[in-house]
Amino acid sequence: MAKRSKIVVVGAGMAGLTAAHKLYKAAGAKEAFEICVVEGGQRIGGRINTTEFGGDKVEMGATWIHGICGSPIYEIAQNIKALESEKPWECMGHLFEEKLLAAETRAEGGFVVEHDIVESISSLYETLMNISQGKVEKGDFSGIQESSIGSFLKLSLQKFWDSKSEEEKLAKKIYGNWSKRMLEEAVFGVFENAERVHTGAADLFNLDYAAESEYRMFPGDEITIPQGYTTIIDALASILPVDMIQLGRKVIKIEWSKSEYCESHTSGRPVTLHFSDGSIMQADHVIVTVSLGVLKAGVLNHESGGGLFSPSLPPLKKDAILRLGYGVINKLFLQEEEEGNLCKTPFMKMAFHRSDSEFRHKNIPWWMRKTASIYPIYNNSSVLLSWFAGKEALELESLDDEAIIDGVSKTVSSFTSNSNQVCNDKMDSKDSGFLFRKVLKSKWGSDPLFLGSYSYVAVGCSGDDFDTLAQPLPRNDKDFDSPPLQLLFAGEATHRTHYSTTHGAYFSGLREANRLLQHYNFLGQRRICASLALFVTSLEGGMIHP
Ligand SMILES: Cc1cc2nc3c(=O)[nH]c(=O)nc-3n(C[C@H](O)[C@H](O)[C@H](O)COP(=O)(O)OP(=O)(O)OC[C@H]3O[C@@H](n4cnc5c(N)ncnc54)[C@H](O)[C@@H]3O)c2cc1C
Ligand SMILES: *[C@@H]1O[C@H](CO)[C@@H](O)[C@H](O)[C@H]1NC(C)=O
Ligand SMILES: *[C@@H]1O[C@H](CO)[C@@H](O)[C@H](O)[C@H]1NC(C)=O
Ligand SMILES: *[C@@H]1O[C@H](CO)[C@@H](O)[C@H](O)[C@H]1NC(C)=O
Ligand SMILES: *[C@@H]1O[C@H](CO)[C@@H](O)[C@H](O)[C@H]1NC(C)=O
Ligand SMILES: *[C@@H]1O[C@H](CO)[C@@H](O)[C@H](O)[C@H]1NC(C)=O
Repeated sequence: MAKRSKIVVVGAGMAGLTAAHKLYKAAGAKEAFEICVVEGGQRIGGRINTTEFGGDKVEMGATWIHGICGSPIYEIAQNIKALESEKPWECMGHLFEEKLLAAETRAEGGFVVEHDIVESISSLYETLMNISQGKVEKGDFSGIQESSIGSFLKLSLQKFWDSKSEEEKLAKKIYGNWSKRMLEEAVFGVFENAERVHTGAADLFNLDYAAESEYRMFPGDEITIPQGYTTIIDALASILPVDMIQLGRKVIKIEWSKSEYCESHTSGRPVTLHFSDGSIMQADHVIVTVSLGVLKAGVLNHESGGGLFSPSLPPLKKDAILRLGYGVINKLFLQEEEEGNLCKTPFMKMAFHRSDSEFRHKNIPWWMRKTASIYPIYNNSSVLLSWFAGKEALELESLDDEAIIDGVSKTVSSFTSNSNQVCNDKMDSKDSGFLFRKVLKSKWGSDPLFLGSYSYVAVGCSGDDFDTLAQPLPRNDKDFDSPPLQLLFAGEATHRTHYSTTHGAYFSGLREANRLLQHYNFLGQRRICASLALFVTSLEGGMIHP
């Protein structure tokens, strides 16, 4: 029988499974290809990881379907009925969302910030983001330097203040040690901190301004998946033969573009994958879906001979990998103590003093000071959730549970101490007491299979870098002697307009599967003589040869 082309997909996350699913399902492909998915971890799903905590289903990674209209993830979720559940789930439904939006903003010290201040800053922030996304004219904010989102926001806030009357500028203290201006800055900070999490850019001064308008969102509601995000992964994997996905198969080197591959390898396949257990696998095509973090580490270690690719990737590709931003975002779940008459932590957004302020509460740990909010995962849940970005997120990974509980308790105390309706005296007497009994946190930064959470456009790069990353190798115009499409790249960080999302990963997997299907065009051309099986299949499939 004629040899089938071997396609190896590295990584069983959204991109890898989508590619395998598409290839396997394509008419005739089963006969034409030998498909294999190798996954370094002990589970499929990658950055999608639904688990349980305190009796509730929680998402350690991907959480939201970012806009349901046109989302392929939403379509799958609908088809498999993953959008219905008897039990409450993380961030369920509209009422929850409204509650979250309406959540009070509290200032360090325990005051609820008055509505007018929150409103004016919220509207300012929204206007600025609308400008950066190219939705509205710059208006009052024209002429502002816009190299990064961070600098644009900072200068715009200054301009907002400059436009105020002298009277308004008067720095009168309105709550405790807070002046109006300090408070406005802190409330603005809540939005910036939420932005750090959304974009993955822990430092907004490193988030490119121009690229912001290229990012696309689907219209419609943003929802979570009642049955868990993992159901989407399971649905994609369910049609694949069980032995197609190999777990615990960490790739440590990918040899490609060998000029004498025919002689040196009996299989005659141009790519060799080396695994951590010393085994190897040969392939005609490898779809690499590892995270941008893993790629960065893989191209950096090259000098020491420890690089992921041999030969190393061409400079253009390597530069794009190194230039693009890739952030660490972590989620922290805390289960609240429900016994006794301890008060419940409210849904709240937290406006902190600047970290250099003399007024800051010294018992709030630094790694909490950029946390935008804390809220129960559904209306009435005893499980609370906060998101962390950057070095705060990394610190969280290294702290033990007690230190986390202590730090969060102290922070919550500082934000509720002045309001009797939320907290009683008991709270004060238990100032550093353990309000929480259990924690669960993600560790995306230190996990060697991820080394971070999702990508963004850093200052100094552009959307072009995503496209460069997506280009297959070898480049046919240059290396026309080598077999084509040895390395293909998929994954969230290869999608120019939907990067950082599950649907971006999905589209990228589809794109690379289609690239191969098109290359092998069952309608004929290139490889028609290479594989009898392919030829027969095409006929059976009713396709016409030229
Ligand atoms: C905390 C967090 C929250 C998020 N929230 C959302 C959200 O709300 N909505 C949304 O749309 N997206 C969200 N995302 C992003 C989304 O999860 C990712 O964009 C998407 O899942 C990435 O899929 P992927 O296939 O590109 O990569 P991955 O899921 O990373 O898959 C790559 C796979 O490769 C494996 N691998 C790595 N190295 C090797 C190796 N050397 N050998 C073999 N296998 C290897 C990994 O184990 C992994 O399984 C979030 C991500 C995180 C971390
Ligand atoms: C921002 O843009 C959205 C959608 O384009 C619009 O609905 C909203 O009113 C705008 N917000 C502000 C403050 O201009
Ligand atoms: C804040 O103001 C109060 C008075 O409202 C004062 O007693 C306190 O010392 C101030 N705190 C700091 C840290 O300066
Ligand atoms: C959540 O609580 C509010 C009252 O605080 C209530 O109006 C709403 O119906 C609740 N939502 C759900 C989904 O239970
Ligand atoms: C919320 O929880 C309380 C007790 O924990 C319970 O009595 C109440 O019925 C719950 N409400 C909803 C809407 O689930
Ligand atoms: C995925 O979830 C499991 C718990 O089900 C956990 O042990 C593991 O650490 C999680 N992975 C990451 C990267 O957070």
